[in-house]
Amino acid sequence: MFVDQFIAGSLQFFSALFIFCIGTAAAVAFALFVVDVSQTRDAVRRNYPVLGRFRYLFSMLGEFFRQYFFAMDREEMPFNRAEREWVDRSAQAHDNTVAFGSTKNLSPAGTLIFVNFPFPTLSEQAVEMIPLTIGRYCRQPYTAPSFFNISGMSYGALSTPAVRALSKGAAMAQCWLNTGEGGLAPYHLEGGCDVVFQIGTAKYGVRDDNGVLCDDKLREVAAHESVKMFELKLSQGAKPGKGGILPAAKVTKEIAEIRGIPAGADSISPNRHPEVSNVSELIDLISRIREVTGKPVGFKSVFGDFDWLRDICLEVHARGIEHAPDFITVDSGDGGTGAAPMPLMDNVGLPIREALPAVTDVLKIHGLNNRIRVIASGKLITPSEVAWALATGADFVTSARGFLFSLGCIQSLKCNKNTCPTGITTHNPRLQRGLNPADKSVRVANYCKKLIYEVQTISHSCGVTRPRLLQRNHVRIVQETGKSVPMSVLYPHPATLPQYVEAAGQAAPALEGIFSEDSEALYDMFRTQRSVVQHLYDKGYASIDIARFLGQRAAKIDELLAEETRGSNFAAMDQRRRQES
Ligand SMILES: Cc1cc2nc3c(=O)[nH]c(=O)nc-3n(C[C@H](O)[C@H](O)[C@H](O)COP(=O)(O)O)c2cc1C
Repeated sequence: MFVDQFIAGSLQFFSALFIFCIGTAAAVAFALFVVDVSQTRDAVRRNYPVLGRFRYLFSMLGEFFRQYFFAMDREEMPFNRAEREWVDRSAQAHDNTVAFGSTKNLSPAGTLIFVNFPFPTLSEQAVEMIPLTIGRYCRQPYTAPSFFNISGMSYGALSTPAVRALSKGAAMAQCWLNTGEGGLAPYHLEGGCDVVFQIGTAKYGVRDDNGVLCDDKLREVAAHESVKMFELKLSQGAKPGKGGILPAAKVTKEIAEIRGIPAGADSISPNRHPEVSNVSELIDLISRIREVTGKPVGFKSVFGDFDWLRDICLEVHARGIEHAPDFITVDSGDGGTGAAPMPLMDNVGLPIREALPAVTDVLKIHGLNNRIRVIASGKLITPSEVAWALATGADFVTSARGFLFSLGCIQSLKCNKNTCPTGITTHNPRLQRGLNPADKSVRVANYCKKLIYEVQTISHSCGVTRPRLLQRNHVRIVQETGKSVPMSVLYPHPATLPQYVEAAGQAAPALEGIFSEDSEALYDMFRTQRSVVQHLYDKGYASIDIARFLGQRAAKIDELLAEETRGSNFAAMDQRRRQES
C-alpha cells in the first residue's frame, strides 16, 4: 500500500518536473529565437535562430575535443602533444624512454638529423657542463653555470606562485631566471637563483615618475647580489614593434606598485625605447646601464633584417670592443607571449632557424663572436632543438613556454584572460590554488636538468664531449627533396674579415690559457680528426697567433696525439691535465 503510494507520488513528481523542464526549455528557446531574429550583428544567428548558436558552442568545445581526442601526437600548434609530454614526463622525473619506434616523420623539409659518430664519447669521457663568462669588460662579469635558462616572462603575465616556483626551481637547477619586462618582484629573488633583469620599453621597476629610466633605481636593482645581468628588450618575437600588454584585469595593486603604474588599468608599454632611434643611441644606452650597474648588459630582439646588426658591429669597432653589448638574445618570430596582436604574432619577424645562423655569422665576420655572447630563444623546448641552437653558434638557450609546461601548463591559450586553468598566468586566487610552488619548483628543476642531460647525450652520440662543442657539421637538415644536407653546407661558417682579426684575437680568451680553458675542445678535435687550426680559427684566433701557439705547443700536441694513438684514456688525461694546471 505504502509502496504503491510512493511510486504514484514519485511518478507524479517526475512527470511534473519533466513538463516543467520542457516548458522552460521551450520558453528559453522562444526567447533566444526572438533575440536572434531581432538582432543584426550576427548573420548566422539571424538566419538560423537558436540553431546558429550551436556553431559557437561546438567551435569552443572543438578546441578541447581536438586536443584530447582527435589531434595526432605531432600535429598541434604551437607545441604538439609529443613535445608537451616530453617536458611533462621530464618535469615529473618519470621514465622518458619510448617504446617500439619513433612517431616522428623524418621526411618533412626542415627536420633535423644529428650526425652520429661511429665511436661515441664514452660516459667516463664526458665533460660536466662548463660555465661560460658573459661581459669580460664590465666590473662584475657573470659566469653562467647553465647553457639552458628561463626566458623573460613578467610578474604580472605570470602569477605569484608561478614566479616563486620558477625562482626556486632555477636555483635548484643552477640556471638563471629572466624577470621579463614587469620589474623585479620579491618572488624573483625568493628562491635564490641568478636573475637577469629585463628593461622593457616602459622601464618598469627602474623608471622615475615620468616613465624615464632612472639611474638610482638601476643601482638599487643592481645592488641585489642575485641580479647578474641586464637585458634591454628591443622586441620579442611574438610582437615586434609593439610594447608589452598587460590587460587591466591582471594589473593588481601589488603589480602596479612593482611596475610603478596605476592599478586596474591596462599596462601598455611604448612600442620602442623612446630614447633609442638608431644604433649609436642603442650602444649609448647599453654603455650607460653597464656603467651604472657594473654588470653585463645586452639586448633582446627578433630579427627581420641584419643590416642594423652589421651597423652595430661597425659602431663597436669604431668605439672599441669594450663598448659592445655583452650579449644578444635572438628571439624567434614564432615566440610566445602573454598577449599580442595576431598579425604580428603570425607574420612579423624571422623564425630562429633562419635568424640564429645569420646573427652568429655577422658577429663572426666582424670578429665579435667571442666578445658578444648569443642567447637563442623560440620554441627550443626539447633536447634536439637546443642541441641545434648550440651547434649553430648560440652560447646559451632560453625558454619560456618549456618552463611553463614544466609548471603544468596545458596549452589552453588563455594567458591573456586571467582565467588560466593551471594558475600560471592568472591572479585569481581560486585558480592559483592548483599551483603549489614547492611542488612545482622541483618540476622546473627536473625539466632543466633532464633537458641538459639529453643535450649532452646527443653531443656524446656525435662524438664530442660536451654540447658547446657541437658544430654545424654535426647537424643535417632535410630538404624538400627528402635528402638531408649538412648545416655546414647550407650555412657555412664565414671567415672573419682581415681588418677584424686582431680585434677577434683581443676578444678571445688568452691563448696562454687555452690548454686549461679549452683542453676538452682540443682533445675532441684530435679524437674526431678535425683540424685544431680550424677550431682555433672558428673561435676567432688570428692565424698568426694560431701559428705561434701551435709552434709553442707542438711538443704537447705531439704528446697528446701519441697517447691517443696508443688508445689512452681521455678521462685519465683530463685528470692529469687538471692536476698539472
Ligand atoms: C606568458 C609569457 C610572457 C612573456 N613575457 C615576456 C616579457 O615580459 N618580455 C620578453 O622579452 N618576452 C616575454 N615573453 C617571450 C619569451 O620570453 C620568449 O622570448 C618567447 O616565448 C620564446 O620562447 P619560448 O618559445 O620558449 O616560449 C613572454 C612569453 C610568455 C609565454
